[in-house]
Amino acid sequence: MTLGRMKTIKSIWEQLKTRQEQTADRRIAELLADGARAAGFSVRHGELLFDFSKTNIDAGAMSLLSGLVDAVDLDARRDAMFSGAAINETEGRAVLHTALRNLDASVVVDGRDVMPDVRATHARIQAFVRDVRSGKIQGQGGAYTDIVNIGIGGSDLGPAMVCLALAPYADGPRCHFVSNIDGAHIADTLRGLNPETTMVIVASKTFTTVETMTNAETALAWMATKVSTPAGQFAAVSTSADKTAAFGIDAARVFGFEDWVGGRYSVWGPIGLSVMLAVGPENFDAFLAGGADMDAHFRQAAPARNLPVLLALVGLWHHQVCGYPTRAVLPYDQRLSRLPAYLQQLEMESNGKRVAMDGSDLETASGPVVWGEPGTNGQHAFYQLIHQGTGVVPCEFIVAREGHEPNLAHQHLLLLSNCLAQSEALMRGRSLAEATAIMARKGLTGAELDRQARHRVFPGNRPSTTLAIPKLTPFTLGQIIALYEHRVFVEGVVLGINSYDQWGVELGKELALALQPILEGREDAAAKDASTRQLVDYLTAVPS
Ligand code: F6P
Repeated sequence: MTLGRMKTIKSIWEQLKTRQEQTADRRIAELLADGARAAGFSVRHGELLFDFSKTNIDAGAMSLLSGLVDAVDLDARRDAMFSGAAINETEGRAVLHTALRNLDASVVVDGRDVMPDVRATHARIQAFVRDVRSGKIQGQGGAYTDIVNIGIGGSDLGPAMVCLALAPYADGPRCHFVSNIDGAHIADTLRGLNPETTMVIVASKTFTTVETMTNAETALAWMATKVSTPAGQFAAVSTSADKTAAFGIDAARVFGFEDWVGGRYSVWGPIGLSVMLAVGPENFDAFLAGGADMDAHFRQAAPARNLPVLLALVGLWHHQVCGYPTRAVLPYDQRLSRLPAYLQQLEMESNGKRVAMDGSDLETASGPVVWGEPGTNGQHAFYQLIHQGTGVVPCEFIVAREGHEPNLAHQHLLLLSNCLAQSEALMRGRSLAEATAIMARKGLTGAELDRQARHRVFPGNRPSTTLAIPKLTPFTLGQIIALYEHRVFVEGVVLGINSYDQWGVELGKELALALQPILEGREDAAAKDASTRQLVDYLTAVPS
């Protein structure tokens, strides 16, 4: 990046900071008194509505934020990603999860069109899935009733989140997900399953991840208790054909992909095998179509109407400019209950980096902590802090106009009213005068009235956004996931981060390997620090 451009970016960040300081005390509710604000600070794409009018962002802030996007030449970077350039510069790789959902495209990587292979694998998975779902491919005890997907991180969170989200469309075998190295996870999952009618999918991009390979061995031993050729009831999704073969999985049941698909971006391809088995190829294709629709929108819409760009700008405003350390994702949809965990990996593994692409220290904060739970559950747990804690947590609500249970429409209306009530309450708050009047009506007076009223004050003016969707379908889910992926991309480009590596997970893996012989008693812990030695002693003591 040229020095001039770096100076421009620095100056925009400074101007944003000044603007934030100047407007911090302003009430969002007062901004909304302007009749044009709700429409002006929201965007529709197809049937999606993204409303960010309940934030403190105004036209001036928006113009500065948009200046950031121009200064980093987002368009060029975006086009480079879609065209297969090696934008993952620390690993020398392209970033092409978008190719998995734009199957008619042609994408050239290192001089070769990669799409014929992508299409061929997609068709092979479809054929396999059709045969499993129809019972043509069976286990030793007949048609498959259960699928156990063994994977972790992106090889688990994506398919697990999507399978749950699309439960109303599931008409195939039941899908279960095992990720944790804690033996409790696989033990609890396999208990009650019949090995003779269960298929195990080993889902691992690298096919080396300790958790996944250990659980796969455990599942193989479990399968062998009842099935004469246990590996015959395994399938694998991986970039490493050698390793899947060494594990003993028939090549006909191995579905490969390239290293240009990042783990946390991989649900669109073979890693989505369990999803396709659950909901069928047509629904899976509708999910891909939703993702492709968001890709087209991201590529074509002007920044001011571009959903991923706007989500990113709101995120940058709240975290890097206002300094709010976290953001809560609050889907008012029980079937999106795994979405916050999925987004945690997507956002925090992508943008939780302290150096820029060129290795220099980041001049701004890295990406925020992302967390959340579905509403209304969270309301009865942590919303207390969101409303009355000393810190501010920007909230991102997601809600569908229509549910999947027409016979329970009255419950859906209650869900909607709760979602809207929360963003309204966060914004409006309740003043001391209001709280005092309420408590006075209850008969309190004097110092006790004052004391009790103060506990009932809500500062309000707390920002939130709402993404409203028509219904949680395969298509809209695809749109939502691609929307968040591109948001992460835009935030990463503005921050100058490589959003596609994850070196920060390596040190812990190395140290865990080194601790294994110590815990097994084959090596002593002398070289470890005193705290670790103490913990090793405690954890290896023979229970009395
Ligand atoms: O350790 C982090 C990570 O590499 C994630 O990025 C990835 O999604 C996960 O582990 C699982 O990796 P794999 O699919 O190679 O088993």
